[in-house]
Amino acid sequence: MNDVALEFENVTCGYGDTMVVRSMSGRVSQGSVVAVVGRNGVGKTTLMKTLAGFLPVSGGSLRWRCADLAALAPHERLKLGISYSPQENVVFGDLSVNDNLWLHLRERRGERYEEMLREFPRLKERLAQAAGLLSGGERKLLAFARTMGLGACINLFDEPTEGVQPENIDRMARLIRAHAEAGRSFLVVEQNLSFVEKIADEVIVMDRGEAVVSGKMSDLGRATLERYLQI
Ligand SMILES: Nc1ncnc2c1ncn2[C@@H]1O[C@H](COP(=O)(O)OP(=O)(O)O)[C@@H](O)[C@H]1O
Ligand SMILES: [Mg+2]
Repeated sequence: MNDVALEFENVTCGYGDTMVVRSMSGRVSQGSVVAVVGRNGVGKTTLMKTLAGFLPVSGGSLRWRCADLAALAPHERLKLGISYSPQENVVFGDLSVNDNLWLHLRERRGERYEEMLREFPRLKERLAQAAGLLSGGERKLLAFARTMGLGACINLFDEPTEGVQPENIDRMARLIRAHAEAGRSFLVVEQNLSFVEKIADEVIVMDRGEAVVSGKMSDLGRATLERYLQI
């Protein structure tokens, strides 16, 4: 499948007058998984916030199936099928796990979360508990389950595996691959290179606000990524 779902070209963005991301380009095709990797502080989260609509685009263009996205607010992008799972503050601590899952939906009906609750029994056991009682990794898992269950066409994940138990990271990878095979698209910022290897069709390496290399995961290989990240 080669239909381009999300495309950004020469995107420059940041905070006020300070531009953090400079001239970044990328595209996510329908049914594919693109990973963004880079050291801390290079601008990955800033890029994701801009794609989701929480920061303005200061230069360049942002398109979704050829429609210009730049002027649309986050909730309008969500309506078009672009969902975003941020790096931090991923759940509402005062609300139950179940309320966090259904928060964005008008009707609490159907089986949209059944697959996630089957894969992550830990969440199922704790549906009635306040999300604030979950560990950091469990909160990430809850945010992951919510975004996956929403069923958006394109899913922006910012470091989804941070603090998550290894066996659950493997399940996340399997779910992302299965949903990509079914035609959904993913743009995933990630530090965990084993996870990147499992999920990514393509990788963009960022450094100091710019893409320094990008290509197919199978062409680049893990050693190349490690070299760029200087692990
Ligand atoms: N709210 C903010 N206001 C001003 N500068 C910020 C803000 N958030 C992040 N930055 C700066 O932007 C740069 C990139 O941050 P970020 O996008 O979070 O990087 P990454 O996600 O790659 O670790 C950093 O230098 C950081 O200090
Ligand atoms: Mg970040």
